[in-house]
Amino acid sequence: MKLNEVVPWGRTLEEYKLMFNLSETDLRATILGCGDGPASFNAEITELGYSVKSIDPIYQFSAPQIRQRVQETYEQVISQLNLNPNRYVWKHFNGAEELGQVRLATMERFLLDYEAGKITGRYLPQSLPKLEFADNQFELCLCSHLLFLYSDKLSLDFHVASINELLRISKEVRIFPLLNLDCELSPYLEPVIQDLLSKGFSASVQPVAYEFQKGGNQMLKINVL
Ligand SMILES: C[S@@+](CC[C@H](N)C(=O)[O-])C[C@H]1O[C@@H](n2cnc3c(N)ncnc32)[C@H](O)[C@@H]1O
Repeated sequence: MKLNEVVPWGRTLEEYKLMFNLSETDLRATILGCGDGPASFNAEITELGYSVKSIDPIYQFSAPQIRQRVQETYEQVISQLNLNPNRYVWKHFNGAEELGQVRLATMERFLLDYEAGKITGRYLPQSLPKLEFADNQFELCLCSHLLFLYSDKLSLDFHVASINELLRISKEVRIFPLLNLDCELSPYLEPVIQDLLSKGFSASVQPVAYEFQKGGNQMLKINVL
């Protein structure tokens, strides 16, 4: 993997709670954050005493390399947001600049925890579609802003293989958002749900209180029955 092939933007614990409808009981589960990148989710819930591991290919890089990459993508992402502001709901942020500042602060929060978290195995450099965990090692897996969002880059086969892998290691998987980068429902959502149902999993689309991409206020919740 090359660091310049991904856009590593990270979200906060508060955003994860809203994107995934996380209850107090959910937070007490053994959690895997899949593709957590520079999110401060892991740092924040670890500080609160909960149990979480995060995987992401960017964890093969050093803190200065990750900071440099995030800063390099800053202008590119902000100008993309400014090109199509009507595609987004500006209720959490007063414009692209404020959003950018929150993302940079979130990354700094993550980086403060990064070296310590690597030593204790909370940040692991792994990539879908194959992960190095035991069957049923986790109770809850959260995957934010990776599957479905990058439907133009990641194939249907990649989605099916990745979600099956997450269900091998976790009893429950939640994925958000269900839209692609153009803010359209991912064409893979329906075939993925059909694949899951045919394999005996339960899969349901649920409303959530988070909405930044217009219409992006739903997650997919999948359970091993
Ligand atoms: C847009 S960021 C989202 C970060 C975080 N989940 C959040 O919502 O704040 C997407 C992340 O997916 C990671 N990623 C890319 N390919 C991946 C793969 N095959 N397996 C796991 N993570 C991957 C990237 O490195 C990046 O950090």
